[in-house]
Amino acid sequence: MFAVKKIREKFPIYKKFPNLVYLDSGATSLKPQPVLDKMNEYYSEYGVNIHRGVYELSFQATDEYDMAREKVARFLNAKTEEIIFTANTTDALNKLALMYSKENIGPGDVVLTSELEHHSSLLPWMKICEEKQAELRYIPLNPEGRITFENFKKVFDDKVKVVALTYVSNVMGYKTPLEEIIPFAHQNGSVVIVDAAQAVQHFKVDVKEMDCDFLAFSGHKMLGPTGVGVLYGKKRYLNQLKPVFYGGDMNQDVYLDRVEIKEIPYCFEAGTPPIAEIIGLGKAIDCLEEIGLENIENHCHGVYLYAMEKLSGIKGLTIYNKNADIPIIAFNIDDVHPHDAATCFDQDNICIRAGHHCAQLVSKWLKCTGTLRASIYLYNDKNDIDKFVISVKETIKLFQKLEGVQ
Ligand code: ALA
Repeated sequence: MFAVKKIREKFPIYKKFPNLVYLDSGATSLKPQPVLDKMNEYYSEYGVNIHRGVYELSFQATDEYDMAREKVARFLNAKTEEIIFTANTTDALNKLALMYSKENIGPGDVVLTSELEHHSSLLPWMKICEEKQAELRYIPLNPEGRITFENFKKVFDDKVKVVALTYVSNVMGYKTPLEEIIPFAHQNGSVVIVDAAQAVQHFKVDVKEMDCDFLAFSGHKMLGPTGVGVLYGKKRYLNQLKPVFYGGDMNQDVYLDRVEIKEIPYCFEAGTPPIAEIIGLGKAIDCLEEIGLENIENHCHGVYLYAMEKLSGIKGLTIYNKNADIPIIAFNIDDVHPHDAATCFDQDNICIRAGHHCAQLVSKWLKCTGTLRASIYLYNDKNDIDKFVISVKETIKLFQKLEGVQ
């Protein structure tokens, strides 16, 4: 039995807003008290810099910081030196694209991607391809809007140097068949970069088993704080990359005319990192593991199925993804701009996202100006869905009435 009531008690925002129906976890998750307490513990008990101070408090901060990296490594089944802390997924994917493309992408090379990408996965490569006269190529989506292995193979050839794909679409909630794509891409010598921003909080991601070359995600969508993200890279690739940012704490020795950089991952972490946030991310992983990712997945799927059943058959509603792999509902109220509809939901204390979700190509593919997105997470229950469905029906009625008035 998944004790949602007990789980909700851990999220202080529900104390302030007991009637909150938060269905926007795809944008960011709510934060549990233990994560807030852990960050507060850092600031109030050992809030000094890491790796620099030769005194006890600094050792303590450094230990906590290092422990967080170990937790992330265990969480992904990676080695600790394969975990680079960044500001978020966007930061991780941009840095990686800059570093990797420097020596590995040239005129005529191909970067293979998809229309399902979040802008952070797409735009760095779009700019690099423009600058390097490389080709940005898209895997055609199937009629449902999914990336399929068959379509991937159709556009793959020996010019493809990089495959940059989302693990799960942030708009449609579809999972990419990476278990087929990755071995195929590797046989043909391409590296595979995975945007896992909508994956790690929903199901177990094992980078060894997947065999992806690089993977990125953000802390704030998985119960952690904003300001911290992760870039995972296979050790042998990270050892070949040159940093794009230079500064404090990433160098071993500095001479008048050259710098010797530290080993991985430190050479990629110039400057004081977001220490409290990294320690908070470690605590968020503890929270997720305590509840169990599998339990979270089962619970969210149950709530999602309930929502789909309640929404099905409502006239005036278009649902774009009838069979999502993570609990995301992409929909619109017919003939109503998503922002107008979301404003109505807000009046009922319901938070959902509206617009193009930083993935404009998806809206273009769907041939609409944008969508509404309800995203479900571990603190949601059927009660939230009941309130949401009532609000959907009321909003449809309201706009029908307004149309009648016109
Ligand atoms: N990338 C986040 C989302 O999908 C912000 O909403």
